[in-house]
Amino acid sequence: MLRSDQLRGHSIAEHPGPAEDLKITARIIDGKAIAAKVRAEVAEGVQSFTEEYGFAPGLTVVLVGDDAPSATYVRGKEKASKEVGIDGRVIHLSQNSTQDAVFETVQSLNKDESVHGILVQLPLPSQMDSDAITMSISPDKDVDGLHPQNLGFLMSGTPRFVPATPLGIQRILMEEGVELNGAEIAICGRGALIGRPLSVLLSQRGAGANGTVTLCHTGTANLAEVTRRADVLVAAMGSAELITGEMIKPGAIVIDAGTSRVDDQTRKRGYRLAGDVAFDEAVEVASAITPVPGGVGPLTIAMLLQNGLKAAKLAVGAEG
Ligand code: GUN
Repeated sequence: MLRSDQLRGHSIAEHPGPAEDLKITARIIDGKAIAAKVRAEVAEGVQSFTEEYGFAPGLTVVLVGDDAPSATYVRGKEKASKEVGIDGRVIHLSQNSTQDAVFETVQSLNKDESVHGILVQLPLPSQMDSDAITMSISPDKDVDGLHPQNLGFLMSGTPRFVPATPLGIQRILMEEGVELNGAEIAICGRGALIGRPLSVLLSQRGAGANGTVTLCHTGTANLAEVTRRADVLVAAMGSAELITGEMIKPGAIVIDAGTSRVDDQTRKRGYRLAGDVAFDEAVEVASAITPVPGGVGPLTIAMLLQNGLKAAKLAVGAEG
């Protein structure tokens, strides 16, 4: 049996052993452990900030409607904020709220000096214009990094607030010691929250970046051909288990940012969480892989907390 690190970076054709030797078991990346490390760093930063300025960083999440997964994520964000000493609050507006009601809420948070970071949980009810609402958040409080001004800073190579999930994926890759300089990186999914900003982040100059990024999407002519070239494969399409084992280069690092609820009557709650990668197949081809749950998800929350602290520092002029 080959160790996964022996295979990293090598193709099947380069390996002389018998076929069964090629069956490897990927290392399962522990997203919870990496997130715990980030959260401990943030907690330390929050403590120093609070001691120095006499108030805690404030982070408010606006949840509109009754999308069940969103409610779960928002509860997680509030709890995690409190655990690191951030003044985490949630404003819950009803499903049939008007867009003006959301604008008014955001405007009052923009003015509130005890609130340093604002996040409006997506998706919003269909009657609302998400882009307009995102744009109404003060760019200085936009801990989601989705305001065009912050996306512009990212594009221009001087990032301020970077969306939490791409930041978390970059942190996982760095913590795992993955060499991104010159690596072939395929990102599947061009969504505004993950794929598109991640493609910019990982193709920048500098540490934890400098990769050759291919951003794949529904118009990609031969998806498997592109993904099979990738040293690092990121799946962020939101399509359960679309990436199969044969689409992965042997020894690749696989990051699964998908979370779909798939019906499963054997489970008490009637569903299971599935990633965008067929895990059981991928684990026999990749050298390392993030599980769902317990991979990227915990990092999304941890990086949001990091952005929350950054927003508070910006507000007091302690961070440029
Ligand atoms: N919904 C799922 N992920 C996110 C996120 O990172 N930010 C916001 N605002 N909504 C989300």
